[in-house]
Amino acid sequence: MPRATGVAGELTGALPLVSLAALLCGCALARRSPAPEPGRESPLNSAQASRFADSVLQLMTLDEKLGQLTQSPGRGTQTGPRVPEGGEQQIRAGRVGSFLGIFGAEYTRELQRIATQESRLKIPLLFANDVIHGFRTIYPVPIAEAASFDPERVTLSARGAAVEAAAHGLHWTFAPMVDIARDPRWGRIVEGAGEDPYLGAIMAAAQVRGFQGGDGAIGLGEPDVLMATAKHFAAYGGAEGGRDYNSVELTERTLWETYLPPYEAAVEAGAATVMASFNDIGGIPAHSSDWLLDDVLRQRWGFKGLVVSDWGGIGEMVPHGVAATTGAAGILALRAGVDVDMSDGIYADSLAAAVRAGRLEKAFVDSSVHRLLRLKYALGLFQDPYRFNDVARERRFTLAPEHLRAARIAAREGIVLLKNANKTLPLRKDVRTIAVIGPLADDARSALGSWAADGRSDEAVSVLAGIRASVGQSGRVIYARGAPVDTADTTGFALARSAASRADAIILVLGERENMSAEAASRASIELPGAQLALARSVIRAARASAGGSRKPIIAVLMNGRALAIPELVAETPAVLETWFLGTQHGGAVVDVLFGDYNPSGKLPVTFPRATGQIPIYYNHRNTGRPPDSANSYTSKYLDLPWTPLFPFGYGLSYTTFAYSNLRLSPRSIGGRDSLEVTVDVRNAGDRAGDEVVQVYVRDDVASVAQPVRALKAFRRVTLGPGEMQSVAFKLGPDSFALYDRQMRRVVEPGTFTIYVGTDSNAQLNSRFEFTGDTLVLAPPTPRFH
Ligand code: BGC
Repeated sequence: MPRATGVAGELTGALPLVSLAALLCGCALARRSPAPEPGRESPLNSAQASRFADSVLQLMTLDEKLGQLTQSPGRGTQTGPRVPEGGEQQIRAGRVGSFLGIFGAEYTRELQRIATQESRLKIPLLFANDVIHGFRTIYPVPIAEAASFDPERVTLSARGAAVEAAAHGLHWTFAPMVDIARDPRWGRIVEGAGEDPYLGAIMAAAQVRGFQGGDGAIGLGEPDVLMATAKHFAAYGGAEGGRDYNSVELTERTLWETYLPPYEAAVEAGAATVMASFNDIGGIPAHSSDWLLDDVLRQRWGFKGLVVSDWGGIGEMVPHGVAATTGAAGILALRAGVDVDMSDGIYADSLAAAVRAGRLEKAFVDSSVHRLLRLKYALGLFQDPYRFNDVARERRFTLAPEHLRAARIAAREGIVLLKNANKTLPLRKDVRTIAVIGPLADDARSALGSWAADGRSDEAVSVLAGIRASVGQSGRVIYARGAPVDTADTTGFALARSAASRADAIILVLGERENMSAEAASRASIELPGAQLALARSVIRAARASAGGSRKPIIAVLMNGRALAIPELVAETPAVLETWFLGTQHGGAVVDVLFGDYNPSGKLPVTFPRATGQIPIYYNHRNTGRPPDSANSYTSKYLDLPWTPLFPFGYGLSYTTFAYSNLRLSPRSIGGRDSLEVTVDVRNAGDRAGDEVVQVYVRDDVASVAQPVRALKAFRRVTLGPGEMQSVAFKLGPDSFALYDRQMRRVVEPGTFTIYVGTDSNAQLNSRFEFTGDTLVLAPPTPRFH
């Protein structure tokens, strides 16, 4: 067995990581994401690793190679996740290269020992898991993290998750999910950054950087870093009708303009792995798409890492109807570029025979194994297979106080204030009695959100628990569940009404359970489920009747994993907070906002429609030849609903207000690769400090291909004290003005552009500049779909 101690040692020297120390102190250093040193080899592309992989490959039998490409799922037991029946024997025989869903420093050490001492080639194992928004300390679900519009914070959450998960023996996470979703019926919208390609790309890179300890995969090899997986490649979020696993019908143009940018950003940030998606695009399942996996991913974007199948995704090519047998599906997948077979066991079961019979070229197997070995080498596992197996570390980082603190900050930032009539919020801290009503108020499991890894409900703070902890004295909080989440049962209404009548403030906690979004959790209607709207109405009536002439504060706290269509609730409730699923610290963060210890600053990363029937509705649509006009029937609109959304993308209120003025563009005309400077004055016009997310949108006024009415191209979170004013400046380079032209080249075309700046995607403050001279070609035509 070749050893590479010296070489691996050099590779994993003192790297300029987003360091743990920086994470813990939250200091300025942590907010800088280091770029790879110039000239430094990416671990994904290392010649040393490559030579090492060559030498190992020569020693392997075909069965051992296919074993390496096999990822086997663990099974849950009373004492934690374990290998499936006969798993140890599989390891000894070299029939498995990685496990999914198995963790624990001590247990994975034992499995690593078997692999590196009792198997013929002694190749270490990889342990993977879905560490989506935390491992044991759970951070906000990704859609809530996106609502923070704070990429540095998102990096820190992913960093914290990696530190905790790696201490439990894990090397690899199946995150970030970077699928753009314009359809909130699709349950998995909760796992991503929403509808916008620019925000999606920023958040994708931020997460990769956090999991991997910096840009360009430079952190790989440190024992507190996870390999990231950009998933699900590609356009899984485009599922027709919002129905999970469904086919995707998109034009190539929309793919390139809207769906592909976040994957590309993740690859650029150095994501070590990519996961193929379940869906087909135009009849080609992603697991068999050499266009996606080779032409786009490896050739166009230069991806050097590993592609993993999604769970069962190889075998599903049989029901897709492109393979007659699972064996044929395996051949299609490997040829297309799926390196690792997650859970199917098809590569191990049938590809050796296919190679021997000449139905599959051995070179495909070798390339995939080579890529896998390179990564194992980059992680330093050949040097020391136990570097992720330190029990003391595991203890130290599990629910570490600094992680919990970071999770609370992240949770606060994800909250979006949707309505605050008559300054209902913040609540006075001396309010005497608070009624906490609603089916989600006491639901700590939902607070965690879906994909909560090893997160535990008894370690999470529900809204009720958060309020109780903050209010202190018993007797001041009256709790009534009122109604179940999603059935028509109204028997709890009477108690809820009575609580509302007795209380001085009413908090209604409504929405969806955590398992009503994420995988296999699409909804045909995105209104409030069950009898919750009726409950809210009934409680509001009781509260008003009991208040006499005065006004009792009534606040709806929403918990959900998607945009909801809630016009009636919003019309009838004076204050509405969108809190998504905020993780372990949900309740504490909500309390911070309710009582004004934190001024809400989140912004919607998805458009909220008025009704399910408006879907798809997104802010960056094209103008059409007949844009909606209330004075003209023959324009693009509905008879029975306005065309506008309930809340636009980028929307979110604060306890203060921000005034925008004095938008300046400089210079007024640019050409070639020049940049445009956009500056705007933002003033806190209220009496409380607050954060504002300043947003910049661009419209290409006339182009060879119709462009969105506006598209987000920059944003920045600024903190302003009462009365404070700041000039906020942005530099926009050619990419901000680029489009795919009729030949699918990425170009900037001469002409005028309008820049809009403001607090959400309806921003009206605008100014124009001109791009002059010749068309600037930024990239050649995209490879044609096949
Ligand atoms: C999901 C993936 C996930 C995988 C492993 C699949 O069903 O689609 O997102 O990473 O399971 O748990």
